[in-house]
Amino acid sequence: MDKSNINQLVQELKRYGQEHILQFFDQLDEQQQQVLLHQVNEIDFKLLEYCRSLLQNKQQTGQYVPGTLQPLQVIELPKTPEEIAGVDRARACGEQTIAQGKVAVMLVAGGQGTRLGYDGPKGTFPVGPVTGRTLFQYHTEKILALERRLQTVIPFYIMTSELNYSQTTEFFAQKQFFGKDRETILFFRQGMLPALSDGGKMFLEEKGKLSVAPDGHGGLLRAMFKNQILEDMEKRGIEYIFYFQVDSPLTRVCDPVFIGNHVLKGAEMSAKTVYKSDPYEKLGNIGQVNGKNVVIEYTELSEQEMEARNADGRLVFGQGSIAIHVFNVSFLRRLKDENISLPYHLAHKKIPWIDAFGNQEKPEKPNGYKFEQFIFDALPFAETIMVQETDRKQDFSPIKNKEGQDSPEQARQDLENLFGSWLEKAGIPVKRDKAGNVLDVIEISPLVAMNEKEFLERHPEPQTITGGYLYDKVG
Ligand code: UD1
Repeated sequence: MDKSNINQLVQELKRYGQEHILQFFDQLDEQQQQVLLHQVNEIDFKLLEYCRSLLQNKQQTGQYVPGTLQPLQVIELPKTPEEIAGVDRARACGEQTIAQGKVAVMLVAGGQGTRLGYDGPKGTFPVGPVTGRTLFQYHTEKILALERRLQTVIPFYIMTSELNYSQTTEFFAQKQFFGKDRETILFFRQGMLPALSDGGKMFLEEKGKLSVAPDGHGGLLRAMFKNQILEDMEKRGIEYIFYFQVDSPLTRVCDPVFIGNHVLKGAEMSAKTVYKSDPYEKLGNIGQVNGKNVVIEYTELSEQEMEARNADGRLVFGQGSIAIHVFNVSFLRRLKDENISLPYHLAHKKIPWIDAFGNQEKPEKPNGYKFEQFIFDALPFAETIMVQETDRKQDFSPIKNKEGQDSPEQARQDLENLFGSWLEKAGIPVKRDKAGNVLDVIEISPLVAMNEKEFLERHPEPQTITGGYLYDKVG
């Protein structure tokens, strides 16, 4: 970029009151200048102005007013013979839809995993109790296993952020895409948004670097539209997208029952839930506000709402979202064509920055805002939705924290408890503690069996290991 272009850029930045970000430009070497200019060129100034206006009003779009949430209809876990037959019908429909090549899988893996304190994309986190199988390996093998069983192709789309794109793609390449056809795995990056000070100014993280952050999992839509992902899906004949997050090794990726229920209901978007383990479990709450379907974060619900119970003792808002969805491609196409944008949520954060004198500041209190979109905010735009409860023991054990609840240790135990129950059904004795937790170390590859039924049908042979069982060989 020559001098006159830079002057033009300075004028543009002045118009938005952001010229301070080029304040140290002359002190940067050429490469640093290029990095900063690239970042500035990536800024969508209209969007930035919009974010600033949210700050000025000190009001988030779509903010929840406590007391207004109403429960909605959910397909609960089956109890009666008719309900069990309903699950079988849904499974058959889902399998047929997948076998026809109409389903793609979408993984959002752009988060930074700050709470886990793991340095690297969360998907590369080792969780398999015996082999250290990573989250990415679990997810990919589940898709591959389904492709093999249903003799079909399931394209796998993975959204990363700018920050973990190279590490993620390199990891997959190094692992030879876990045996899945390379042409059917597609990576793309989500957008990044500048953080803003309380007064609406962008921050410099370094003299030559803007402070930017991923735009939330709801940024998926912007990223899909920008990267022609919808078009790619339409070209491949995809009609349904199974959407999930990276953090749970138990997730039934591309679950035929869930997809079948979605198709049978004629829904545009669906959501999976678990019944909360306690009223304060940190899950989004599915319900209706003013007749619109919504997910309200646990942080926004009042204590009274969290504690509220029906006459049968069950929580009124007991259905927690586990952030697993199905979208119709035609629904996302409509959102794109109608220029519908999801609301932005503001997070007040401590943002390290370079002050006007070039000093590095590390604030002790939140000093600025990050802006994120959430994918579940697409729910109110869907004409018809389907919500289905799932059994958390078989489908949900997220890794979010270093220790305690939602920790790697808990996820490994949950995997072993599930695998242990399959072994017991096959007549193989398993050691358990008083609380019922499996004590043997057990790992079963999704390629060997994805569920109890497959395990019993296939009678796989374990590999010998001390203190447990490993089923990793297909054949
Ligand atoms: C999320 C949901 C919550 C749900 C819970 C279930 C929100 C705000 N909350 O909480 O309703 O009950 O999971 O486990 O979403 N991601 C991106 N890009 C981003 C940010 C996140 O791709 O910019 C991805 C992450 O990689 C991850 C997923 O989105 O796969 C979830 O992100 P995370 O921030 O961990 O959400 P939670 O707060 O755990």
